[in-house]
Amino acid sequence: MLMRAAQKGNIMSKNEKISNSVIRRLPRYYRSLCDLLNEGITKISSRELAERMNVTASQIRQDLNCFGGFGQQGYGYNVAELRDEIAAILGTEKRRGAVLIGAGNLGKALARHLDYESYGCRLLGVFDIAPDVIGAQLGELTVRDMNGIEDFCRRENPVIAILCIPKEAAPEVCARLAALGIRAFWNFSYHDLTKEDTDGITVENVHLGDSLMALCFELDSQSE
Ligand code: NAI
Repeated sequence: MLMRAAQKGNIMSKNEKISNSVIRRLPRYYRSLCDLLNEGITKISSRELAERMNVTASQIRQDLNCFGGFGQQGYGYNVAELRDEIAAILGTEKRRGAVLIGAGNLGKALARHLDYESYGCRLLGVFDIAPDVIGAQLGELTVRDMNGIEDFCRRENPVIAILCIPKEAAPEVCARLAALGIRAFWNFSYHDLTKEDTDGITVENVHLGDSLMALCFELDSQSE
């Protein structure tokens, strides 16, 4: 029997046994399953899924067993059901409100090119302090003056902030937004937000360079 993940509520807060590394693999499972469905594949064994994802079949079984197990012995996985279950675990249907702070090069790219809805978010507003940036059009959104962030947050109740500001500005902006009800920071500024900055708030400090360095390390390991 399939166990319905949606009935299990918020996995991350209620099921503390699930490791961070398993949670971090779920978006990859989700993407692979969406790709399979787009290719018209409706059923897949853990071995075939493992080959496509370049992980072991036992890893997949172990990961999915954390949530009660989804497959059936001798049948494999129903791709659509598994995709929906993982989407429920990740809460992609929730459409959490987000604001993006700092509409420079990075902020503009993130505002324009990410499909927020498919990740469970809605980008509600983009904010900046620079007069030459305020008023610019980014897709359907107009860059707003940071002075209006208080009114906006009270009205729209966003819970996520995407920080694309210089690192010097991050602690102050973070404190300001936390006081306005922001509960999660996707932080691209090079100031790593710590527990002191964000007590009780979820933070993902993102460094694209880390991924590039890991790639370079792999490259060197291969050629040695
Ligand atoms: P940028 O200079 O083009 O844009 C920064 C924007 O933030 C500007 O429009 C500025 O007016 C605005 N800003 C500054 N202080 C603000 C405040 N208090 N409130 C609201 N808006 C404010 O810089 P870029 O290239 O877009 O990069 C943004 C930040 O992200 C930089 O700190 C950069 O070092 C960092 N970065 C991080 C990466 C990562 O992997 N984590 C990758 C690339 C850049």
